[in-house]
Amino acid sequence: MHPVEIDGRIRLCAVSDVPTGGMLRLEPAGMDPLVVCNHEGSFHAVDDECTHAIASLSEGRLEGTTLFCPLHGGSFDICTGKARSLPCKQALRTYKLDISDDTVWLLPKRK
Ligand code: FES
Repeated sequence: MHPVEIDGRIRLCAVSDVPTGGMLRLEPAGMDPLVVCNHEGSFHAVDDECTHAIASLSEGRLEGTTLFCPLHGGSFDICTGKARSLPCKQALRTYKLDISDDTVWLLPKRK
């Protein structure tokens, strides 16, 4: 399923595309890539690119609500986007989601 805009919301993926403890990288049209994370059935979305250097966070690992960068091991809170460990200092952007109809939707405004 590719991201598609419907009535101002963007259909990102099916809920089943992101199992518990998993994440999925997506590139909605006209937006920077983002990563959808599933923490115990709670979905969060943040920028996929690390704020420290150029690395795709979806290639890192998710432990609880902490997303670790694959390049230098810095980490972020997927709920707030805030950096949790060095060398990351700058927060990631977070995105507001809606879960309905077994679908993960991206709402127009950022958190
Ligand atoms: Fe992510 Fe360095 S690029 S911690």
